Amino acid sequence: MSRSSNSWLQQQRRDPYVKLAHIQDYRSRAIYKLMEIDRQDRLLRKGQTVVDLGAAPGGWSQYASEKVGESGLVVALDILPMDPIPGVVCLQGDFTDPATVQRLLDVLSGRPVDLVISDIAPNLSGIRTTDQARSMLLAELTFEFSRGVLRPGGDLLIKLFQGEGADAYRKEIARHFTRTVIRKPDASRDKSREFYMLARGYVV
Ligand SMILES: C[S@@+](CC[C@H](N)C(=O)[O-])C[C@H]1O[C@@H](n2cnc3c(N)ncnc32)[C@H](O)[C@@H]1O
Repeated sequence: MSRSSNSWLQQQRRDPYVKLAHIQDYRSRAIYKLMEIDRQDRLLRKGQTVVDLGAAPGGWSQYASEKVGESGLVVALDILPMDPIPGVVCLQGDFTDPATVQRLLDVLSGRPVDLVISDIAPNLSGIRTTDQARSMLLAELTFEFSRGVLRPGGDLLIKLFQGEGADAYRKEIARHFTRTVIRKPDASRDKSREFYMLARGYVV
């Protein structure tokens, strides 16, 4: 085993959120990031329509479907396969492929979306500028998609990475929503450059 995969395993074993996810039968430690943001900002409610981008293995979708209940709808997309979650429509496809976006739109069939959540992270190449460019491309596509589906007043929660393009992106998003805030939940590792931007009140 390589030194990096060995230290990753050790980190996983020590991580309290990994343990908690296991005990509570959630699919990923990532769920605790959404949970914390939701507790603070009261994002998710019964009956909402939610799109979860970069959803596998499915922690965010599990949480979102519990919150929106049977009267709501969660549509989840990932490039990887995902085990089914009751009440969640799971699609597999590459979000950068327009045909995948069309499949998402087909599932929604004109139903206005209350909330888009995106935890998408590109596969890391280790080359920082390349990874940042890929992440910003996914963020741009997420914004473009959100503009097409969000109801007026709807919300967007998106993961970003500190680096080239992130500030400009935040400013651009802020022009289209009533207010934006930055969140760095406890479950988001300190050493990670990731943070979350919550944009509320979409202005068409
Ligand atoms: C951090 S994980 C998401 C974890 C998820 N929120 C959860 O709670 O389980 C990021 C996901 O983004 C997905 N992803 C990356 N690039 C993608 C793309 N182009 N299209 C769709 N999904 C993508 C990855 O496959 C990965 O599953």
